[in-house]
Amino acid sequence: MNETLIFPRGGKRNEIYTALLPQIQAVIADTDDLIANLANVSAILKQAFDFHWVGFYRATSPEMLTLGPFQGPLACVSIPFERGVCGAAARERKTQLVPDVEKFPGHIACSGLSKSEIVVPLVYNGETQLVLDIDSDKVNDFDATDREYLEQILDFIRKRHWIV
Ligand code: SME
Repeated sequence: MNETLIFPRGGKRNEIYTALLPQIQAVIADTDDLIANLANVSAILKQAFDFHWVGFYRATSPEMLTLGPFQGPLACVSIPFERGVCGAAARERKTQLVPDVEKFPGHIACSGLSKSEIVVPLVYNGETQLVLDIDSDKVNDFDATDREYLEQILDFIRKRHWIV
């Protein structure tokens, strides 16, 4: 696998996602190691969009998320399912799109620069296995396009690592 990421610089977000999806599939096909793949998916999304923070939290018990591979500033290590945007995604097993984090009750401010956030869960066997969390330093930076493509990316990861 060639390690150069190809995407239209300055392109529209959906054009960038469209370019990234097959590259993400190729990257994650290369190894059975989940952590390696979560690390590279974080790196790809950070490089392509320069989001403030991109990374994964894994469900390490039925009610606790623990920090996984990420790109960006230092982050909170443990997030209970009952707290924050990540906890809501894990608990409800549904994508959370938060245009303004200050208006989200219980938002966990790992970084004061985060203004909007999207969190997508990976659900297998009725249980949240992990979540992808992306934070932006701009208010209202995520919409249905992000949701659609990020859910596809988590579907690739689910099929790669949870369905044998
Ligand atoms: N803001 C998140 C916590 C994780 S970090 O921002 C990296 C939340 O409320 O779940």
